Amino acid sequence: MLASALTGKKILLGVCGSIAAYKACDIVRNLRKLGAEVTVVVTSGGARFVSPLTFAALSAAKVYGGMFDEQDAHTIPHINLARDHDMILVAPATAQTIARFAVGMADDLLSAVVLAADCPVVVCPAMNSKMFTHPATQVNLTKIAAFGYHVVQPDSGLMACKEEGPGRLPEWSVILSAVEKVFTPQDLAGKRLLITAGPTEEPLDPVRYLSNRSSGKMGYALARAAMLRGGEVVLVSGPCNLEPPANVELIQVRTAQEMYGAVLSHFDDMDIVVKCAAVSDFRPARCAPEKLKKEGADVRLELAANRDILRALGERKKSQILVGFAAESENHLEEGKRKLAAKNLDMIVVNDIQGETTGFQSDTNKVTLVTRGGEIKELELLTKEQTAMAIFDEVVALVGGGM
Ligand code: CTP
Repeated sequence: MLASALTGKKILLGVCGSIAAYKACDIVRNLRKLGAEVTVVVTSGGARFVSPLTFAALSAAKVYGGMFDEQDAHTIPHINLARDHDMILVAPATAQTIARFAVGMADDLLSAVVLAADCPVVVCPAMNSKMFTHPATQVNLTKIAAFGYHVVQPDSGLMACKEEGPGRLPEWSVILSAVEKVFTPQDLAGKRLLITAGPTEEPLDPVRYLSNRSSGKMGYALARAAMLRGGEVVLVSGPCNLEPPANVELIQVRTAQEMYGAVLSHFDDMDIVVKCAAVSDFRPARCAPEKLKKEGADVRLELAANRDILRALGERKKSQILVGFAAESENHLEEGKRKLAAKNLDMIVVNDIQGETTGFQSDTNKVTLVTRGGEIKELELLTKEQTAMAIFDEVVALVGGGM
């Protein structure tokens, strides 16, 4: 298992009496898959939905329930549980439990542990939408946010009670982002970032297009990493089959011309721009309105050049940090340095597109970072998520050096 932000973290999962309690089973499994140790504390309501036995089997650990369980009395469970964990995640959190947290009640084990804890607390409300939007619950959520607890907004949609509205436990990817964010230094807080990702598609007729093998994985990993580090992120993406990261503004485009428009219209408001997209340098000079037929077709394809988006940003930039990518198959460093200078960049990420474990489509990458000041840093083979974090380590250092 590759190291994740959760490797070795001790997480206490509080499970309350909501129908969404069954989803807590997957939360336990997913946290453990990422290398976390999980201890479950289940409220009396939670235990009516899912048996503590299930949580014991999934967490491979003792499950805690009652405040006064005799066999635990000598261990002072509420204090030791609070002390022994790196984070408390309450998912699902009911209106009742949130109200307990808000007034500092300690009349069950979970609320007593939360009151006694000084580790981060992440709360994922899940309840009927009228209960969620009731002023009492909203005031309580505002209160616990003021205590420093991280409140994850619920999803909207059809609920078990057949009502629609906010109150559904969010998808795992959203909960995971909230959890990882707590363990990530917020060194991009207050920064606005624009990331581009994926290929572009240049249509030839209504069914055919020119494109490239970019999967978008590196760009999406960059957008997620920037969000986890506290940045406000706009992701301009060409066509990709990837789930967009939580809490990122996604702008979907198809062609290089559309990407040019989306990027240029946001550029002036940005602090940091990372142009990871594999933009088509050329497009068919004409896009036929109807499907081209092979009978009597002109077999030569006439191309028109697309504008170089990154070069345009380099010409226009004021205080922004501008990072480009150079996907190369030969003369990697020379090509990277040439593009860095020609496009007026602060840093370029040079990657080899030919290896099995690097570049397009793969889940890993091996890149070299070259800065404007001439520093060269060769990274080892990493997952694209780890590569994204390493790129931002360097970007943060550049920002620290004055933007
Ligand atoms: N890029 C861009 N607009 C283009 C082409 C490239 O913004 N029309 C950006 C890419 O997003 C990347 C960088 O420029 O950050 C380098 O792209 P790459 O395809 O490696 O190089 P090119 O500049 O296209 O040069 P060449 O085709 O000679 O390799």
